[in-house]
Amino acid sequence: MPQSLVVRTAPLTLIPAGVLVIYAGEAMPLRGQAAEIWAATGLDFAKASTAAGFTGKQGQLLDIPAPAGLTANRLFVLGAGTIDPDRPASATAWADRGGSLAAKLMAANAETVSIMLDGHEAMPAAIAELVAGLRLRHYRFDKYKTRKASDKTPETLTVTLHVPEPAMANAAIAARGASVDGTLLARDLTNEPPNLLGTEEFAARAGELAALGVTVETLGEAELRALNMNALLAVSQGSARPPRLVVMRWSGGTPEVAPVAFVGKGVVFDTGGISIKPAGNMEDMKGDMGGAAAVTGLMLALATRKAKVNAIGIIRIVENMPSGTAMRPGDIVRAASGVTIEIVNTDAEGRLVLADALWYAQDKYKPRAIIDLATLTGAIGVALGSDHAGLFSNNDELALQLATAGLATGEKLWRLPMGPAYDKLIESRFADIKNSAGRPAGSITAAQFLARFIGDVPWAHLDIASVALGPPSTETNTSWAPGFGVALLDRYVRDNLEEK
Ligand code: BES
Ligand code: MN
Ligand code: ZN
Repeated sequence: MPQSLVVRTAPLTLIPAGVLVIYAGEAMPLRGQAAEIWAATGLDFAKASTAAGFTGKQGQLLDIPAPAGLTANRLFVLGAGTIDPDRPASATAWADRGGSLAAKLMAANAETVSIMLDGHEAMPAAIAELVAGLRLRHYRFDKYKTRKASDKTPETLTVTLHVPEPAMANAAIAARGASVDGTLLARDLTNEPPNLLGTEEFAARAGELAALGVTVETLGEAELRALNMNALLAVSQGSARPPRLVVMRWSGGTPEVAPVAFVGKGVVFDTGGISIKPAGNMEDMKGDMGGAAAVTGLMLALATRKAKVNAIGIIRIVENMPSGTAMRPGDIVRAASGVTIEIVNTDAEGRLVLADALWYAQDKYKPRAIIDLATLTGAIGVALGSDHAGLFSNNDELALQLATAGLATGEKLWRLPMGPAYDKLIESRFADIKNSAGRPAGSITAAQFLARFIGDVPWAHLDIASVALGPPSTETNTSWAPGFGVALLDRYVRDNLEEK
C-alpha cells in the first residue's frame, strides 16, 4: 500500500509536534513567524546556515534535529529562492517548492508536519500550488510491488499548513486540487500494465466519472460499424479486445453555449501491428493511451471543481496487434467522413483512430473548438526532446492560448508549421491519402493527416509522445507517466472559456 497523504490548513498558532517547516529566502533574514520560531531555538542563524552551506536557494534544506525551545522534534528550514517583493514567485516555482518538500519529508520518514506560511508571498493561489506540488511529488505507483520500500515509512503523512486565512486557502487548494486529482488519474491509467488495462477496463474506468455528474456514453463495435468508423475499426480488427469509444460530457455552462471538445488517442498497447515494432522498449507502448488518459483526467478535474463550462471528452480505445485478422500495409479503408485512406504502415495507427474521432466530434457536437492529445509520433521526440510537446493548429489565437496555459503550468508546448507542401506528402497513389509519408517531417505529416478530418472549427493537436512517457524526473514528478496535459487544459479552460 502506498503511503497516504493528508493535507489540511490551520491558523498561525503554535502547537506543532513532529517536523516543523519554515522558509528562508536567499540573502534574506528570517521574517515573521519563521523569525520567531528560529529565535526560540536560541541558535545563531548566520552561523548555522554558513556551517551547513545553506544560502536559501530553492531546494536547500537546513535540518535542525531536536531543536531546543520548540515542541517540534525537528526543524526544517527550506530554501525559498530569491524573494523579490515586487515580483512574486511563479505558480510553477511554488509547485516546485511543494515537490521538493515532499521529497525531503518522505526521505526523513516524517509522519506529522507543520508548515508555517505567513510571508507576504503566501497568497491562497501560491499555497494551493505548494499543496499541488506536495501531492504530485508524493505520488507513487507501487500497487504491484509486494515488498514495501522501507518499514520505516509511516502509513500516513499528515501535513498541516499554518496560514493567515485558512478559509481562503482552502478554496484555492480545492480548485487546484481538482486538477491534481485529474493528473493523478491520468498517471494511474497510463502506468497500469497492458494486460490489466485493456480496452474494456479503460472504458469502465472512464465510466466511473458518472458518479461526479459526467454523462458517460460508451459505444461498442456494432455502433462504431453503424457509424462507418472504418479507420478506427481497421486498427482494432487485429486484436482480441473490442474497440470502445467513450464520450464524457460535462455540462457546467449555459446550455446554449457550444461545448469545447477534447479528443484523446487511447491505444492500450501499440505493437505496431504487421509493421511490427522492434522489441527494445516495446513495453513503453502500454502508455500509448496517454492522450486518452489526459482527457479522462481533465474531465474528472472539470467535474470535481464544477467548472462553468460545457466540455466533451472523447476517447478512442483500441489495441494495435498483429494477427491473422490484422490490417495489412496496402489495405484501403473509407473513414467515417468518406475520405479513403491507404494504410502503408500499420504502426501509424494513432492517426487512423483519431481521424474518425475528430470527424465524429465535429459532426455530432458542433464544438466551438477541438483539441486532441496523442502520443502520435516518435519524431516529435527527435525534434523537441521531452522539454516541449508539439503543438499544431489551424488557429493562431487557440495556439497562443494553449501555449500560454502551458507556460503557467510548466507543460510547455512548441508550435510546428503546417501547410500545403506538407499536405502534399500524404497523397496516395491509390486512395485519397496514405497514413504515413515516411521520416521527413514525420510529426508534421501526421498533423496534416489529422487536418484532413477537420472542417472550419478552431483545432489544435498536441503530440505528447515525447513528454507523456518516461520523461526525466522533476520536482513535481517521479512517475513514469507524468499525466501531461491535464493541468494545462484545465488552466486553458479556466482562463479562456469558463463563464464567470
Ligand atoms: N505510438 C507511436 C508513437 C510513439 C513513439 C509514442 C514513441 C510514444 C513513444 C505511434 O503509433 C507510432 O508508432 N508512430 C510511428 C509513425 C510512423 C510509422 C509513420 C513512429 O513514430 O515511428
Ligand atoms: Mn504505432
Ligand atoms: Zn501508437
